[in-house]
Amino acid sequence: MVSSFDKVINRRNTDSLKWDGMKERFGSIPDDTLPMWVADMDFLSPEPVIKALRERVEHGVFGYASDPLSLFEAVAEWMKRVHGWNVDPGSIFTAPGVMPAIGMAIRALTRPGEKVIIMPPVYPPFFRIVEDNERVLVQVPLIEEKGYYSMDFEELERACGDKAVKMVLLCSPHNPVGRVWTERELDKLVKISQKTDTIIISDEIHADLVHSGNRHIPYATRAKETSLWITCVSPSKTFNIPGLNTSYTIIADDALRIAYSKSHRATAATHHNVFGLVAAKAAYTNGDTWRREMLAYVEQNLEQAITFFQISMPWVGLTRPEGTYLLWLDFRKSGLDSEKITERLLQKGRVALDPGHWFGKEGEGFQRLNVACPAELLEDGLRRIRSAFADIRPEVE
Ligand SMILES: Cc1ncc(COP(=O)(O)O)c(C=O)c1O
Repeated sequence: MVSSFDKVINRRNTDSLKWDGMKERFGSIPDDTLPMWVADMDFLSPEPVIKALRERVEHGVFGYASDPLSLFEAVAEWMKRVHGWNVDPGSIFTAPGVMPAIGMAIRALTRPGEKVIIMPPVYPPFFRIVEDNERVLVQVPLIEEKGYYSMDFEELERACGDKAVKMVLLCSPHNPVGRVWTERELDKLVKISQKTDTIIISDEIHADLVHSGNRHIPYATRAKETSLWITCVSPSKTFNIPGLNTSYTIIADDALRIAYSKSHRATAATHHNVFGLVAAKAAYTNGDTWRREMLAYVEQNLEQAITFFQISMPWVGLTRPEGTYLLWLDFRKSGLDSEKITERLLQKGRVALDPGHWFGKEGEGFQRLNVACPAELLEDGLRRIRSAFADIRPEVE
């Protein structure tokens, strides 16, 4: 059956980072390189979102936006309905994105020279946001066992025991490895946070993108007794509106909220983009049917990609992601380093994935593939990946 997600939309020359920004990021590459990097989708946004934006554009006056209570109620209602999380609409701040919000939280709650933990392989800006704010980056890598990743709780507890460590950046679900953290895992982190007074910044931007058999658990719902958390959420990944630069920061604790709001004001990040506001309200209110259909399509794409690798390139390691539309591919059996793998993919295959070393040294030899695209593009991309390694046949045990 033809699905609306099958429609191939030309995104070239639309100021798209994914499609038009490849040469800037990768240098000289063939003009017809297919982008399968950057975490945005090649699908139209939900019709209710497009309709609401169209109506707002038609109005023609784009003055400063207010922060309507109905918006925060829509965010809270979504958290309740989709994630079973009771959020007080009064505890929500707007932000121009999850990364800006994390930057504000770092500046509000830690001092220069204090330490912030991240768990690589992880979304590359996590490294920069700590270092650019002159805090000390502490890396507690995830543990990988046969392609399945877990948090290293022993090392986390030890690292958080250092008085200079003030904060952990949790990626939940985790980009790029696709883990959806379980209650047990989150409870262990809550215990460590409580015992060591460490603030957990829970980046839940991928929360709504969780696959059958898994459930996203908001960190806040496990952290009941401790108030040492800030959660960042956004409709951007879920509804394919990241270019509208809109996210929400949820903080229940009064002291943390007061500290964060100073940073929020100091960076003048209190203004809301009017299109982001309109899109978020429409998405959270009328976007869930689309989200479910999109997730079913993405799951099919994941299935197709996994089957492809099993049959055509069985030496490439992978684990089915529990969440996100990203597949973390292990090319280490090729014997090539990340840069060589990337060069082959770009120059021989004419396909751009995210090189694993961008996610930390634990990503060396890996690539991240984005499957949120029409099946036709995915098939083309997979063929291109195969052609990049046509002359290599590593042994498979
Ligand atoms: C884990 C994670 N956090 C944050 C972001 C970016 O968020 P924003 O564009 O809202 O700053 C991304 C985008 O891929 C992401 O994967």
